[in-house]
Amino acid sequence: MKGIILAGGTGSRLGHLTRVTNKHLLPVFDRPMIYFPIQTLVRAGIKDIMIVSGKEHAGDFLTLLRSGRDVGARFQYGVQERAGGIAEALGLCEDFADRGPVIVILGDNIITDDITPAIERFRAAASGGLIFLKEVDHPEAFGVPVFQGDPRTRIIAIEEKPAKPKSRFAVIGLYGYDGQVWDMIKTLKPSGRGELEITDVNNFYLAQGAMEHHFLDGYWGDCGESFESLLAAANIVADMAKRPLAKA
Ligand code: DAU
Repeated sequence: MKGIILAGGTGSRLGHLTRVTNKHLLPVFDRPMIYFPIQTLVRAGIKDIMIVSGKEHAGDFLTLLRSGRDVGARFQYGVQERAGGIAEALGLCEDFADRGPVIVILGDNIITDDITPAIERFRAAASGGLIFLKEVDHPEAFGVPVFQGDPRTRIIAIEEKPAKPKSRFAVIGLYGYDGQVWDMIKTLKPSGRGELEITDVNNFYLAQGAMEHHFLDGYWGDCGESFESLLAAANIVADMAKRPLAKA
C-alpha cells in the first residue's frame, strides 16, 4: 500500500518560526519534524511515499530527503499551490495512488506506537476507512469523535474543532482510505475557513458505517498546534533518544 505525507499549509500557529521555512523542516530535538511521520510509515512497511508541500519550500524537501533510499523508501514529491486544506492536498495524490487505497499522515504528527498491526488489518479488509484516536486535555483544538453510547465502540460523527467537544478524544492525523476517497474528495466544498476538510472525508466513511478506529497507547503530538506542543514533542524525543530510535 502507498503512503502520503502532507507537509503543506502555512504553519501560522508557529509565528516567526515559519516565516522563512516550512513547519515540517523545523527541528524536533535532533532531527527535522518530517523524519517522524516518515519513520512511522516505513516502520509499518510502507515504502512508496508521496510528500506534498507548498510551492515555497518544495526544493528544500528534495534537498533534505532525496530519493528516500537512505531509509529504504521511495519518495515522490508533490506541490500544493495554496493551502487549500488537508483534503485538497490529498487529492493531488490520486495518480500516485493509482486511485487505490492509501495511508495518509500529517507531517506535523509524531506517534510512538508501532501502527503495523492496524495497517495490516486495514490492508486485509481492502475497503473502508481507518482513523486513530488519542485522549487529550484540550480536544477543542482537533477533530473530535462523537460516540454513540460506550466511548470505545461506535462513532457516529467527527466534529472539527468544536467549541463544546462531545468527547475527550482527538482524531489524530493518520488515516487510511480505500479507493472511494478520490471521487469523494471531488465532491467537497470549502469549509468556513476556506479549506477542504479531512473531517468531511472521515464523516463520509462514518456515514457508510465503513470506518474502523483504533486507540493509540503511546505518545501522540501535533507539533504544529502551538509552541508548547512543539517543545513537548522535542522533550519526548530527547527522552526517547536515551533509548535509541530506529534510524530515520
Ligand atoms: O493533528 C490532528 C488534526 O489535524 C486533526 O485532529 C484535525 O481533524 C485536522 O483537521 C488537522 O487539524 P489542524 O488544524 O492541526 O491542521 P493543520 O492546518 O495544522 O494541518 C495539518 C497538516 O496538514 C500540516 O502539518 C500540513 C498539512 N496541510 C495542511 C493544510 C491546511 C497541507 O499539506 N495542506 C494544507 O492546505
